[in-house]
Amino acid sequence: MESFDFNQIIDRHNTGSVKWDFLDRYLHLTKTDLLPMWVSDFDFQSPKEVRQALSSRIDHGIFGYSERDDLYYQAAIDWFSRRHQLTLHRDWFTSIEGVLPGLALLIQMLSKPGEGVIVQGPYYSSFAKIIAMNDRVLIENPLLESPEGYKIDYAHLEQLLEQHRPPLFLLCNPHNPTGRCWDRDELLQLLGLCKKYGTTVISDEIWADLILPQEKFTSILHLGSEWHRHVIAATSASKTFGLSSLRISNFLIPDPALRQAFNDRLNAHGLDVFNALSMTAATAAYQYGDAWLDNLQNYLAENRRWFEQALASSVPWCRMTKAQGTYLAWLDCRDLGLDDGTLQQVLIQKAKIAVSMGCSFGERGQGFIRINLGCPRQYLEEAIAGLAQLTP
Ligand SMILES: Cc1ncc(COP(=O)(O)O)c(C=O)c1O
Repeated sequence: MESFDFNQIIDRHNTGSVKWDFLDRYLHLTKTDLLPMWVSDFDFQSPKEVRQALSSRIDHGIFGYSERDDLYYQAAIDWFSRRHQLTLHRDWFTSIEGVLPGLALLIQMLSKPGEGVIVQGPYYSSFAKIIAMNDRVLIENPLLESPEGYKIDYAHLEQLLEQHRPPLFLLCNPHNPTGRCWDRDELLQLLGLCKKYGTTVISDEIWADLILPQEKFTSILHLGSEWHRHVIAATSASKTFGLSSLRISNFLIPDPALRQAFNDRLNAHGLDVFNALSMTAATAAYQYGDAWLDNLQNYLAENRRWFEQALASSVPWCRMTKAQGTYLAWLDCRDLGLDDGTLQQVLIQKAKIAVSMGCSFGERGQGFIRINLGCPRQYLEEAIAGLAQLTP
């Protein structure tokens, strides 16, 4: 039986790592000797089978123009069938370098400048970036806080749909930053409203595999063919297996006309060639990654449980949001009574950790921070020791 050592500390400095080497540039910090717990990328090696597949592809030594082959499609289709009991059809697949570039192109394709895109706040900050930088208007439907985790405000959503008639709803499931996985009933209610107002739902499902072991992920594509004209799902092996710089993602588009329009757009930008190493890594991950992922899910669940208990005993002013997925902890720091600028300063000066500030996820994130639990336990111990230095 293979063992997986997620406790192993691997030095990531000087690897061009955004998380470890570029805190100053991305977070505008002058102090860089902080424990990085911000960007969503974990500190574990990818599965051995992925590293071996990459090595033999590199040894082959020829890296000419490449295309997705049968193995690539079949590995992904089998993965979704095995892990999520989701049947995908090969002709639904369209691929692009990453989820964000695909979302940006879809925003351009399915809306006009000045039109609205609905997101649920707190929202992933890059959603706001691609909406604003494409001259669209972010329309926020705030999630409702509750002791069981965040909930969707359908009444407010309907008001927004009626008032703005937005062409797009950009859904995040599982939700970054809160870790909520939307269930079947929630998705059906949301889709019903969007359909009523002619709004297409793009579901960013990049976190789908990283759910807690006892939880179930429901894709927008689980809900039946009656919704297929109105939905697109985005997925990737990158978040699951730590392959974010080996860029390839799949946009699953059941509707032939929408799919054709997206493929045309990719062609219009010369985006119809694929990175050989990215495809090799994704294929091997989907073919051989099950046991590794099962172990990772258990490790992350244990990290989450440990962190929540450690907060309760050593950092009582901080409340952790109930989540079903992701390796992100969404922490309510409002009891400290600090504004976000001061909160960031004390986190840097006293706690000595670099986090994602909640306010970068929109107004609903004020007073919160997002911490990345995708790391060896030792880092979590250091983070708790740092947070324990702060008192209201
Ligand atoms: C919800 C969500 N979508 C997309 C991305 C980025 O995807 P990609 O690197 O494939 O562009 C992230 C990364 O954190 C994310 O959390």
